[in-house]
Amino acid sequence: MTDFKLLASQAKALLESESDPLANTANFVALIHDALPRVNWTGVYLLRGTELVLGPFQGKPACTRIQLGRGVCGTAAERDVTQRVEDVHAFDGHIACDPASRSELVVPLRAGSSVVAVLDIDSPEKNRFSAEDQSGVESLCQVFETALGVERLMNLTR
Ligand code: SME
Repeated sequence: MTDFKLLASQAKALLESESDPLANTANFVALIHDALPRVNWTGVYLLRGTELVLGPFQGKPACTRIQLGRGVCGTAAERDVTQRVEDVHAFDGHIACDPASRSELVVPLRAGSSVVAVLDIDSPEKNRFSAEDQSGVESLCQVFETALGVERLMNLTR
């Protein structure tokens, strides 16, 4: 079981020591990817207009643009709701970037009340992400949102 409390304090320390939002996003993604077992891709898609554009990530090269409302990422961004997908093959419209991925967790990142990006985590294992993983990752995303602040989060999407 992942120690999300420890991870949250590590994320806070890491993000508070740097002010550049891109550098912070890259380290945030790397911290999570390194800490979570049985994960093959972790990254951020940034909302630019009506598209999500690939941002910092760890894993194999991925699709660069996802329309709002498309795939798991576009659904999370459009609805502003975390998507925890037990089996990506059963998710209508799932976009397969790495064919090894079997389950997926996508959490919206917000500047104030506006979605500006999503954090996407993929696993090669079916049903990898529990409800505890979801709330743990959501709490990490809150640390990220608070550390960057609304203005620097908005800058990520330009
Ligand atoms: N599976 C995602 C696409 C992004 S990759 O997993 C990195 C989706 O359906 O939106």
